[in-house]
Amino acid sequence: MLSAPDPENHVYDKPPAHANADWTIDQNWPAYTDEEHATWDTLFARQCKMLPGRAAQAFMDGVDILQLSKAGIPDFDELNRILMDATGWQVVAVPGLVPDDVFFDHLANRRFVSGNFIRKPDQLDYLQEPDIFHDVFGHVPMLADQRFADYMEAYGRGGLRALEFGTLKQLARLYWYTVEFGLIQEAEELRIYGAGIVSSYGESKFALESDSPNRIMFDLERVLRTEYRIDDFQQNYFVIPGLEELLRVTVETDFKPVYEKIADMPDIAIAEIVEGDELLTHGTQDHASAQSGDAVII
Ligand code: PHE
Ligand code: CO
Repeated sequence: MLSAPDPENHVYDKPPAHANADWTIDQNWPAYTDEEHATWDTLFARQCKMLPGRAAQAFMDGVDILQLSKAGIPDFDELNRILMDATGWQVVAVPGLVPDDVFFDHLANRRFVSGNFIRKPDQLDYLQEPDIFHDVFGHVPMLADQRFADYMEAYGRGGLRALEFGTLKQLARLYWYTVEFGLIQEAEELRIYGAGIVSSYGESKFALESDSPNRIMFDLERVLRTEYRIDDFQQNYFVIPGLEELLRVTVETDFKPVYEKIADMPDIAIAEIVEGDELLTHGTQDHASAQSGDAVII
């Protein structure tokens, strides 16, 4: 899912002139070209063939509820009428990456920020910066699930607290290993719910079927300590037993003492296995070993 930063996806230090004070912009849906709508349709068709039996039921239900099978890039006004009704969430367009406090504040108020550009036809497989296909197809279906909707709002509030505590790096790992790259046990097998996987043709197979990555049962402290890479398929996936369980160990836990406890503990290197890990797969790491160059690690 991830390559070179898209030049259209800018990083600003204050809202650009065309944006509102909260950094949102108009999606400007009428401006999408036929080619851009066709790119969405190609990506959508490819994932829809791949995902039944692989993606979590909540995700598949979300695609249905939100009527994402309608051709073309979704119009946020239309999408939001359905999403608001389902869980009180909205999708808002932003011009690029927004500052952390702005991002968390939107989440805490049930607004999911989305880029409004779509990748070029030669970037179907690999994109480092999230585009509208990743943001909307990847993230928004899960927001139609009440449990996940509550998790994301709580994560936004947790983000504002982490900024106060100086523990953003740790909390960001939780987002990465759940919202972006989470796996879930369902129907006695593993399924995908992470947006970075469901929006990626290559990774939706790799995450479930490859012998290369570790698959480890989710443990909050462990995840908060684990580094991640942003330039290739993941080397670890953390598996939750269910969405209720995820809520229980995150929303209902005060992270302050957890941050304090792990402050003195070392970070866990990317493919390292530690004592206490409940391993579903001890990966060969063949995929990572075959890549030239160093991993881009956060
Ligand atoms: N409970 C967390 C805290 O005390 C906040 C949080 C909720 C974080 C849900 C992630 C997900 O900071
Ligand atoms: Co994302």
